[in-house]
Amino acid sequence: SRSYSITLLPGDGIGPEVISVAKDVLSLAGSLEGIDFRFQEMPVGGAALDAIGVPLPEETLEAAKKSDAVLMGAIGGYKWDANEKHLKPETGLLMLRAGLGVFANLRPATVLPQLVDSSTLKKEVAEGVDIMVVRELTGGIYFGKPRGFGSNEKGEDVGFNTEIYSTSEVDRIARVAFEVARKRRGKLCSVDKANVLEASMLWRKRVTMLASQFLDVEVSHMYVDNAAMQLIRNPKQFDTIVTNNIFGDILSDEASMLTGSIGMLPSASISESGPGLFEPIHGSAPDIAGQDKANPLATILSAAMLLQYGLGEPEAAKRIEAAVMNTLDRGFRTGDIFSAGTTLVGCKRMGEEVLRSVDSHKPVA
Ligand code: NAD
Ligand code: IPM
Ligand code: MN
Repeated sequence: SRSYSITLLPGDGIGPEVISVAKDVLSLAGSLEGIDFRFQEMPVGGAALDAIGVPLPEETLEAAKKSDAVLMGAIGGYKWDANEKHLKPETGLLMLRAGLGVFANLRPATVLPQLVDSSTLKKEVAEGVDIMVVRELTGGIYFGKPRGFGSNEKGEDVGFNTEIYSTSEVDRIARVAFEVARKRRGKLCSVDKANVLEASMLWRKRVTMLASQFLDVEVSHMYVDNAAMQLIRNPKQFDTIVTNNIFGDILSDEASMLTGSIGMLPSASISESGPGLFEPIHGSAPDIAGQDKANPLATILSAAMLLQYGLGEPEAAKRIEAAVMNTLDRGFRTGDIFSAGTTLVGCKRMGEEVLRSVDSHKPVA
């Protein structure tokens, strides 16, 4: 039987709740395909700050690098919000992404037929939406230098950051996006702010140049402000979107709301070689943490992406996806996706129902 080592990073807030559920689903789906997992749980974020004093302990990064794939919950919380930059949980997550070199973050936003009524948009607008946001994850303003605090000529305090992209950084994320678009509906929309920002001017130039190597993909360019509007006006015009780190962060949260809830959206972060990092796009949701209210489906679907993109185990991935659909068909909903006529359940119970579906449901080919 095939065997893989998985680093689990529960993190903070609802992180441990959703990871515990997703781990069980991953184990069961794997075992039905003859796969077994060796799980190693490591601290990251606020949990690591409290236990060890840093947001990404060396042992955690080493374990992650040595494993076949990494499944993360979420990090962050009020308790650490006032920490200095290098002692913020968020810094741990950014160091993890940089340390693993996972420059390509795939964030699918799919409106499932069962959840059309959970979308805040009209049924005819939301129905059938299927978008893949390809977000650059290890560059741009998140990592650009110079950055920091200082003072200006007037002696006033200032904070500053740098939005910067090199040719090779744009080329590698664009290539991933072209390949993704090619396997989907063949449409790629590159989102930038090339009317104002030099980093975006370079971005657009490189995407345009690379387009000649992917003649089967129809490329368009859109300014980010317009893209934010178009996502709500007519989301079905989009197939694959490629964009920088910060625009991708914002647009993927926006796209999540088309699907009904941020609690539904998984992600896969991949590098050129080495283990991928799989995490829901949502955060630690401190407002509902510890109350068994979190929607675990984003993390469960991230486990499916781990199987698909991280381990090359599409059959086990399909089992998880089919089980999520079946669980929704049977009417189970957490609070964030609840609607009239469905059954309100907590995080644990949702996990149990997905396990039941994995057990009983044959995957669709
Ligand atoms: P958030 O995504 O944690 O929460 C936003 C809203 O969505 C909240 O009302 C929350 O209850 C709800 N929500 C999120 N996930 C949910 C789920 N699975 N089920 C049901 N409801 C869910 O964003 P925020 O409140 O801006 O940030 C909270 C903390 O999380 C901050 O410390 C932030 O830095 C951190 N954060 C971490 C990640 C990550 O770990 N990848 C991502 C985003 C934010
Ligand atoms: C996300 C989060 C992170 C990001 C934060 C917590 C660093 O918002 O994963 O979307 O901005 O990338
Ligand atoms: Mn985000």
